[in-house]
Amino acid sequence: MLEKMKQLLSFDTVAKEQQREQELQLLINENKDTETILDSSSENKFVGRTIDNGEQDLLEPDPIYSTEIVGYPNRQVQYHFYSIIQNFIPIDHSIIEFGAGRGDFSMWHKITYGKFLDYIGIEQDQKLIDAGKEINGNDITLQCSDWKKIKKSLIKDWCINIGAFNKSYHDEDDHLQYTKDTIELMMAHAKKGVVVSFTSDQFNLTDEDVNQGLHQFNAGEILNWASEKYKLTAVDHVGALQYGQFILIIYKEIDNG
Ligand SMILES: C[S@@+](CC[C@H](N)C(=O)[O-])C[C@H]1O[C@@H](n2cnc3c(N)ncnc32)[C@H](O)[C@@H]1O
Repeated sequence: MLEKMKQLLSFDTVAKEQQREQELQLLINENKDTETILDSSSENKFVGRTIDNGEQDLLEPDPIYSTEIVGYPNRQVQYHFYSIIQNFIPIDHSIIEFGAGRGDFSMWHKITYGKFLDYIGIEQDQKLIDAGKEINGNDITLQCSDWKKIKKSLIKDWCINIGAFNKSYHDEDDHLQYTKDTIELMMAHAKKGVVVSFTSDQFNLTDEDVNQGLHQFNAGEILNWASEKYKLTAVDHVGALQYGQFILIIYKEIDNG
């Protein structure tokens, strides 16, 4: 059962992914005791929580299989979005991901290009790190820490940040300043540059988004700040447009090969 689920989570194209997601859902539905079969010692894999008044059962997102828990409505959107990010980065370049979740980006890369990325994911949420390690074992390097505490010596070609600025995970007073400070930190840990996705203010937020404290950014403002500071910069709504996002790319040097 666990092996079958792992296979279903290892997909190589977005087209196949849809089919596998359906199969995975079928498998889960057929096995109501999925959490017991996967690991009877764990309590938080597939949790149906009864709230205090006992009137309603709420199913919390599963840390291993949910895409929502890392910010995507489904696997197809998640993987398409990763391909948009990867488009800016040569496929054999090394990456540090700030706010890595389960490290799904790295596994998508392996499935898509057939070889392991030189990758480290920094993630503050131990539950997501545990889920990533449970799915991928030693095939993935994830560090549980606030990215502010990243080791000075840790440097890779690129630093990426996919969606982690779209919500406040900390009680910072000035989220835009916090975002800029983090991009500066990312630049200090990158040889080639950084790629960051943002929710664009060119789109209307739903009430739910507003209630959840989703942040929107102005692409012009971000680009002005970045190009003043780093010169070689770009923003791109293309590709990310359908998801209400734009991408900031800052190049540290001109790459001739
Ligand atoms: C929207 S999720 C995206 C996860 C991943 N980038 C992906 O696309 O699958 C953003 C993640 O950033 C993490 N995060 C936010 N602030 C962080 C910080 N200061 N240090 C480490 N991780 C952080 C959150 O815990 C969350 O898991």
